[in-house]
Amino acid sequence: MKPHFISFNKIGDPSLGYISVAEISDTIPFEIKRVYWTYYTPQDVTRGGHAHYDLEQVIVAVSGTITFTTEDLEGNKDEFILDSPDKGLYLPKLIWRDIKFSHSAVLLCLASEKYIASDYIREYKTFSAL
Ligand code: TYD
Repeated sequence: MKPHFISFNKIGDPSLGYISVAEISDTIPFEIKRVYWTYYTPQDVTRGGHAHYDLEQVIVAVSGTITFTTEDLEGNKDEFILDSPDKGLYLPKLIWRDIKFSHSAVLLCLASEKYIASDYIREYKTFSAL
């Protein structure tokens, strides 16, 4: 599978606000073992700069705008702009990513595995040699 957008449902209306729901097998194609969120990232900082051997993720910008630049092992590059809380980005294993944040953006990550430092590929040269 390639990185792709996921659409979450949007329950509610403009007068009340909305609820979006992520459920295993319905919208999330793996069992969620970990959830984390990142916040207060300055606008001039690029995070990411790694890939994972096994981890799959679904990312949501619950607030603000988050831009992912991705690259797969064949060298296919894509840009995904997460600018709405009903939009998700599915990232399969072995995807290099760089991440930029708007002011006050909050990134929510649903992850298929617990945190394993050795699952990270932090050297681009190691990634591109795979
Ligand atoms: P990292 O995944 O590199 O963040 P990003 O892709 O947003 O730049 O993680 C940043 C640091 O946090 C790194 O030292 C590993 C640590 N970390 C944990 O200890 N546990 C976790 O669950 C995560 C996601 C990161």
